[in-house]
Amino acid sequence: MAGMPDASTISPRRPVGVFDSGVGGLTVLHELLVHLPHEDFLYLGDTARFPYGQREPGELQRFSLQIARELLARDAKLMVVACNAATSAALGALREQLAAWAPEVDVLAVVEPESRLAAAHTPTGRVGLLATPATVASGAYDRALGAHAPKATLTKVACPDLAPIIQGGFPFDQRVVETVRGYCRPLVAARVDTVILGCTHYPLVAPMLRRMLGPRVRLVTSGRALAGEVERVLVEHSLAHPRGGEGDYRFLCTGDVEAFVEVGTRFLQMPLGEVEHIDLPDWDVTVGSREAAA
Ligand code: DGL
Repeated sequence: MAGMPDASTISPRRPVGVFDSGVGGLTVLHELLVHLPHEDFLYLGDTARFPYGQREPGELQRFSLQIARELLARDAKLMVVACNAATSAALGALREQLAAWAPEVDVLAVVEPESRLAAAHTPTGRVGLLATPATVASGAYDRALGAHAPKATLTKVACPDLAPIIQGGFPFDQRVVETVRGYCRPLVAARVDTVILGCTHYPLVAPMLRRMLGPRVRLVTSGRALAGEVERVLVEHSLAHPRGGEGDYRFLCTGDVEAFVEVGTRFLQMPLGEVEHIDLPDWDVTVGSREAAA
């Protein structure tokens, strides 16, 4: 793993940095907040550039490096990529770049932990994936699932409009139901027993998915799978916050603050509190550059 944290150079009192293209990653933050209540978290939602799911890999790498640079400048002790599209396109570049900018800061991400869980849970090896077009096209889940369950077959469904309609579609109406039903059809036809929700927005339609796929199909989400991994890394590298009780969580967003608070509260299922608007400079960050992150 790149960037092994060194407990002697990094304070465990610093926050965990988490980012996503917008509010979807708040479903991951939700799991982190309930699993690791004593930690402080700093979440960045790149709402001005949402959605990421139909963007090119080079663009997603550039955005992810810009965000990582901002979170490092704000003292993140660990970087959590709570966006499947960003993970699929940019995790390698992020690890490479952080090794130059801040080798003591590790990067954890979705995709791998979910694939490991899916491999452990599937009795038949028939696994389904619902994800954005960028994530499906990257082949990241084929590789990650194949590493843990070489005999498994992955039925992939690219869902171009699902994240935007979940984000804009409250209260859910029949259009949302029919869109979700359409994406489930190939999974039902393939008789999958496990479905990876390969986008951090999708847990919001989990009840619909359960009805449509049937009670025997297991859903695997990004947040649950990742929270255990974050805890393990913090403990292993002596980075767990020493306090008991509850830590603090704060938000940065690149788009409209009011919209972030309104929609974000539903995704987090907790009050959002302080949200700061930031403009991310559109640096052309080159992977491998040693220029200081701060
Ligand atoms: N949150 C993003 C992900 O997990 C999906 C939404 C988007 O398209 O930006 O891939």
